[in-house]
Amino acid sequence: MHNTFPDTPVYTGYNAPGRFEGEIHDLEVVSGEVPKELAGTFFRVGPDPAYPPKLGSDIHFNGDGIVTAFTFKNGHVDFKARYAETDKFKLERAARKALFGAYRNPFTDVPEVAGQIRGTANTNVVYHHGRLLAFKEDSPPLAMDPHTLRTQGYYWFDGQFSSENAKFKSQTYTAHPKIDPKSGELFGFGYAAKGVATKDIAYYVADKEGRITHEAWFEAPYSAMVHDFVVTENYVAFPITPITSSLERAQRGESVFMWDSALPVYVGVMPRYGRGDQIRWFRGPTCFEAHFVNGFDKDGKVYIDGAQAQGNVFPFFPDVTGAPFNPKVVLPYLSRWTLDMNGDGETFGNERLSDSVVEFPCIDPRYAMRKYRHAWLLAQDPDRPFIHQKMVFNSLAHVDVVSGKTRTYFAGPNEGPQEPFFIGKGPDAAEGEGWVGALFCNLEKLTTDLRLFDALNVDAGPVCVIKLPVRLRPGLHGGWVHEKDLAHKP
Ligand SMILES: [Fe+2]
Repeated sequence: MHNTFPDTPVYTGYNAPGRFEGEIHDLEVVSGEVPKELAGTFFRVGPDPAYPPKLGSDIHFNGDGIVTAFTFKNGHVDFKARYAETDKFKLERAARKALFGAYRNPFTDVPEVAGQIRGTANTNVVYHHGRLLAFKEDSPPLAMDPHTLRTQGYYWFDGQFSSENAKFKSQTYTAHPKIDPKSGELFGFGYAAKGVATKDIAYYVADKEGRITHEAWFEAPYSAMVHDFVVTENYVAFPITPITSSLERAQRGESVFMWDSALPVYVGVMPRYGRGDQIRWFRGPTCFEAHFVNGFDKDGKVYIDGAQAQGNVFPFFPDVTGAPFNPKVVLPYLSRWTLDMNGDGETFGNERLSDSVVEFPCIDPRYAMRKYRHAWLLAQDPDRPFIHQKMVFNSLAHVDVVSGKTRTYFAGPNEGPQEPFFIGKGPDAAEGEGWVGALFCNLEKLTTDLRLFDALNVDAGPVCVIKLPVRLRPGLHGGWVHEKDLAHKP
């Protein structure tokens, strides 16, 4: 029986499971001052396995989600961390060992958990209609109390914690839903909506009170991982990139997901409140795009900005041909796709917006779905040293997507920044006016701190550094919620 974590890079050094739940009041501010006007919480989530892997090894993306909250008030910052208590987490805690096997492969689980929701809720946390929702894209969202981080249960967007009589029939829901800043609506979708590796996609719109108001179903051209999507004022777009999935591979106990460079990228576009039979597929060259920065439309043209790499970025998803992982094609560049809904073309345009290598974007959320100028991302600055070769990113970047001008902040050769988040100065402030924050992992000392920057001057360095007395395992996504919004009662 495995009762210790493997001595492998996924479980050692900075990646050693933290498994810490608790609260720390008044974090030390070791440099600068926390702006007193900041009132709100930075929520984020990341994988942190509660038990050693059932199969002896696993990939980073399969760890149980721990949600963390940094709450700012009157210049002070308090911290909380709690596991998202998914069904998987509760079953394994009761058994005191891992029962679920490989990433997204239910055929590798112990028979007793067949049919249970397998999600780890480790990918993103989003606050909407008074609920903090933790997401894994193979499962329904898990609702958590935003003040205590206690788990409330799986949530089907109809005010209930039960799937019975739910309007939401998809088995899955994305980890990258989008909120329209004007209407407060929440847009999301489930892929593999009818089960492992199915081509079915279900699209949902929920109003600002969390009631589903629109649903559409359609099939993708091929079954694949659909990690993110794009909503504009008039359209919704579903990019299909060739991280293919296969039920047969799952049944054979192989990786469900594999890279297939023989397949093109497709982008399906339909009206924002359209039907599945209205989707129109555009085709483009094979590439890898995990995250989209933003999208907007003008005069019938849909513009989609994302971090685009030439080839497979994930070494743990093998190539279908058996070709070895190629590190030369993994660098993502900020690129713009243009899809013209006026003509009858079947392909889309593609241009590079910046020569910086970037990923993990955030924007001023008031400009989501609309023409925008400012984006903040993690960057790889090749002119700066990388002591730890495995850290892909060594800098925080602000990119002006109109001019292409990029400003970067480099924290030092041992520092690994994590996804930035944006805090706006107020409803009347100009786009980008405010702060951007990010956690930095010191890979030598194994420490974590939170740094805040003037959002439009990140290259000037942080306005304050907030020290955490515990190490946080590298996380994935999250964002800032203003205190006045947290007062919303569902
Ligand atoms: Fe993501």
